[in-house]
Amino acid sequence: MIREILTFDNPILREHSEKVEKFDEELWKLLDDMYETMKNAEGIGLAAPQVGVLKRVVVIDTGGKAGKLELINPIITSMWGKQEEAEGCLSYPHKRGIVRRPMHVRAKAYDRFGKLHRYHVKELLARAFCHETDHLNGILYKDKVIEWVEDE
Ligand code: NI
Repeated sequence: MIREILTFDNPILREHSEKVEKFDEELWKLLDDMYETMKNAEGIGLAAPQVGVLKRVVVIDTGGKAGKLELINPIITSMWGKQEEAEGCLSYPHKRGIVRRPMHVRAKAYDRFGKLHRYHVKELLARAFCHETDHLNGILYKDKVIEWVEDE
């Protein structure tokens, strides 16, 4: 089911999300809906607060070989290097801005069955991990934009 994506100054986007405690069917439904909503909007990442659910849940699919990623209670354990690229957000349609992010990210997160996975991602995926994890803490990419990019 496609859910409504909250946009712009909706105060829910500034809230801190709670850890997931139950890896149950409600979580699976949320994950499935988030993935469908993200794909429908042609996004590469979506965090649960963007659909009004204050849980530490993220879906990412950058179209690379990593495929569909479901991150529950994600924690970035280390990051290094630097990249500066244009970034967007489904909660800020038709806007893009240059954001400085680490080139490499190590993270751990649970999957939908409660199993812990460790990740080492770089480039666009590292950017997506940082962007989506920020959402869980009420931090938005627009807070970090160095320079706005004109729409094509
Ligand atoms: Ni976003």
